[in-house]
Amino acid sequence: MSPPGADRYRVRAGGSIKGSLTVPGDKSISHRALMLGALADGDTHISGFLAGEDCLSTARALEQLGVAIERPAETEVVVHGVGAHGLAPSPAPLDMGNAGTAMRLMMGVLAPQRFDSTLIGDESLMRRPMERVAVPLQMMGARIHTREGRPPVEIRGTPHLRAIHYSLPVASAQVKSAVLLAGLAATGRTELTEPAPARDHTERMLGAFGVRLQRDGRRIAMEGGQPLTGTRIAVPADFSSAAFFLVAGCLAADPALTLTNVGVNPTRTGLIELLRRMGADIRLQPRTAAGDSDAEPVADIEVRRSALHGITVPETLIPNSIDEFPVFFIAAACASGETLVRGALELRVKESDRLAAMAAGLERLGVEHQLLPDGLWIRGAGELGGGTIDSSGDHRIAMAFAVASLKARAPIEILEVANVATSFPGFVDTARAAGLRIEAL
Ligand code: S3P
Repeated sequence: MSPPGADRYRVRAGGSIKGSLTVPGDKSISHRALMLGALADGDTHISGFLAGEDCLSTARALEQLGVAIERPAETEVVVHGVGAHGLAPSPAPLDMGNAGTAMRLMMGVLAPQRFDSTLIGDESLMRRPMERVAVPLQMMGARIHTREGRPPVEIRGTPHLRAIHYSLPVASAQVKSAVLLAGLAATGRTELTEPAPARDHTERMLGAFGVRLQRDGRRIAMEGGQPLTGTRIAVPADFSSAAFFLVAGCLAADPALTLTNVGVNPTRTGLIELLRRMGADIRLQPRTAAGDSDAEPVADIEVRRSALHGITVPETLIPNSIDEFPVFFIAAACASGETLVRGALELRVKESDRLAAMAAGLERLGVEHQLLPDGLWIRGAGELGGGTIDSSGDHRIAMAFAVASLKARAPIEILEVANVATSFPGFVDTARAAGLRIEAL
C-alpha cells in the first residue's frame, strides 16, 4: 500500500511488464452515472464505479443538492434519484476539486434549476476555461457568471430554458454534455453538431435512462422534457487508465500483458490506432456483442513488447486520444525516429498545460524535442535518462513519467503526485504488480 498522502514517486529504471490486471472504473462514465441517476425517477445501481477523488467530488456535490447516495461497497453505488425537479439548493458553494468534467457537466444540470448555485474547485480547476460551456447555456437563456471565463461559476437558476441548435466550436464532450443536460430541462428540440466526434458516453447513457435521442454522424438531436428512469449501469475499466499500461506493455511486456474488462468505446480508443501505426502488437478480445448503439463496448486487451517507430499523428485521431497524449509522448520518446503532433491546442487547457509539462519532463530525461504552439515534435531516443520530474500536479503527467522508467538508464523521481488519486486510486500497487519498480514516498 502507498503511504497516505504520498506526494512523490521514486521509480527505479528498467523492469519488465507481464500478467493480467484490471484498472479502476471509467471516470467519464462514473460522473455521468451519478448525475443522470440523480435526475432520474427511481434508483440507479452503479457497479464498477470509480472511487477516485474526481467522482467523489461529483457525489458530494449531488449530496449537497439533496440527493441520497449510498455506497454499499467501494465500487458499488446506489443513487436515489430525485427526478427532474427534485434538486434542492446547496447552502454552500459546490467544490468540484480537480474535476473539470464535474464542473462543466454540473453547469448544465444547475442552469435550469429554480435556485442559484456557485461552483468552485482546486487551484488547477480555478484556472480552467468555463466560457465554452457558459456561452451555449447563455444562448439557451441561462444566467451564468464567470470570472473572466474561469471559476468561480455563479449560476442564477432559470427554469425556462429554450432549446438551441448549436455548432460546437471545439470537439468537447464536456460542452456537448452540458448542453444536452440543460436541454433535457429546456422547451423544444436541442440540436448539436460536433466538429469531430467527441466521446459519446452521455448520449449512450441517456438512452439507457430511457431518453430518445437521434444521432447521425456528428449531429445529435433530443426533445426537451423527457423523463429519466433509474437503471443499472455497469462501468467498465477506464481506457484512459489502461493507456499507461498499454504503453508500458509496448515498451516492456514479456511475454504479454492483458488488461481486462476495458471500455473500448471507439470515441476513446484513438491511442490503440496511434500505437499500432507505430508498430505495436495490440489485440482485442471483445466481451460485449456489437449492435446495441447505447451499450458501452468492453474488451480484454493484450499487448506485447514491440519495436516502436515514430509517426506523424493525424489530427483526426486527436479528439479520440486527447487524454492519452502524456503517455503517448513517452511512447514517442522511446520509439525510433521522429514523432510530430500538431493541432492539439486543447492539451494546453487540461489539468495542466500538458504540452509544456511534457516538454519540461522530456528535457529532464534528455529527449530531443521541440515545443510547438499546438503540439510537440519528438526525436525518439530509444533509451531515456533519469532525473526529477515536476508533474505540475497533473495525474496523467505523473503516471506517464512512471511508465518512462521502463526505458530509463537511471531512477526517475516524480513530484506532486497526490492527484493521481483523482482518476487512478491504487496506481502504485497496480503498477508494481505489473512490474514497474515504483514506490510512493
Ligand atoms: C471528458 C471530456 C474531455 C476529456 C476529459 C473528460 C468527459 O474533455 O479530456 O478528461 O468526461 O466528458 P473536453 O470535453 O474538454 O475535451
